[in-house]
Amino acid sequence: MTASGIPRECRRLAEVDFPIAEVSRHAAREKSIRHGHPSTLHLWWARRPLASSRAVLLALLLPDPCDEHCPEEFKRRAREFLSPVRQPPKTDVELRKALLWFIGSFANWDMAAHKTYLQVGRNLVRAAHGGDDPPLVVDPFAGGGSIPLEALRLGCDAFASDLNPVACLILKVMLEDIPRHGPGLADELRRVGGEIKAAAQQELADLYPPDPDGATPIAYLWARTVRCEAPNCGAEIPLMRSFWLCRKPKRKWALRPTVVRRTASTGHSTGGPGSAKATQSPEPRAQSPEPRAQSRVRDLRAAC
Ligand SMILES: C[S@@+](CC[C@H](N)C(=O)[O-])C[C@H]1O[C@@H](n2cnc3c(N)ncnc32)[C@H](O)[C@@H]1O
Ligand SMILES: [Zn+2]
Repeated sequence: MTASGIPRECRRLAEVDFPIAEVSRHAAREKSIRHGHPSTLHLWWARRPLASSRAVLLALLLPDPCDEHCPEEFKRRAREFLSPVRQPPKTDVELRKALLWFIGSFANWDMAAHKTYLQVGRNLVRAAHGGDDPPLVVDPFAGGGSIPLEALRLGCDAFASDLNPVACLILKVMLEDIPRHGPGLADELRRVGGEIKAAAQQELADLYPPDPDGATPIAYLWARTVRCEAPNCGAEIPLMRSFWLCRKPKRKWALRPTVVRRTASTGHSTGGPGSAKATQSPEPRAQSPEPRAQSRVRDLRAAC
């Protein structure tokens, strides 16, 4: 981060105080935000909350007004820029408090795109670093891009890189493509996605023939199988830990296996291969116990 405008000896706000409790609250709440959050663009496992990234950046970019080396010009302009959101602070201590209050409030997801808050945040950074040459925030381990995204939000220049090519693609789309092309990019993506889906459906249709009842399979589960060794059985038993597909309270889906016995002694099949059909039931537990294979495999011998 460049230090233009702030003397080297001057401490940054983050070095003296930080609204940890408030920022943590906003960061925790942000996890449940689905609409419009970059986490919905692509999963990234180590993604940092935008709330804390924004707050820490601001606290690192701004000087502490109580520091003896803090430029008077910054204090004057900071008081002026804070006025749309807070009573103008008189003393240096009050100004420090007001800046910390703003950092905590701006960490709120609801304020991230609020015009006034955005402008105040950018103005404060400009007051600290000068307007002509915005500070450069460098994040060489940028992952999902929370830090460079928030740096751009605060009017800084940002440099982001990562070892992982998936992270690099996320960074490129989020930091370059979306700002450059705007909402039209989403429409274009949907259009191209539709084309790819239609082409894939055509190409893969042979591999997903309709079931006898007309239903179209959308996926196959693969499992190793063993033959039941009980006399006169020979059924094929899939080695699966559970037949549950979905256990959400209102969406319970499970595979219900159909046992097709094949007489072991003759090898004569009394039907087609063993099959399993997905069934839905509001209360599968009530109707049938756990939809688990009622079979036992012990010492490499199996019986159903
Ligand atoms: C903790 S994550 C960063 C998370 C990021 N701040 C975010 O909000 O998503 C660390 C990142 O460092 C990257 N990384 C690890 N070693 C690296 C290296 N030698 N050079 C560049 N990136 C590296 C990983 O791929 C990972 O994305
Ligand atoms: Zn059997």
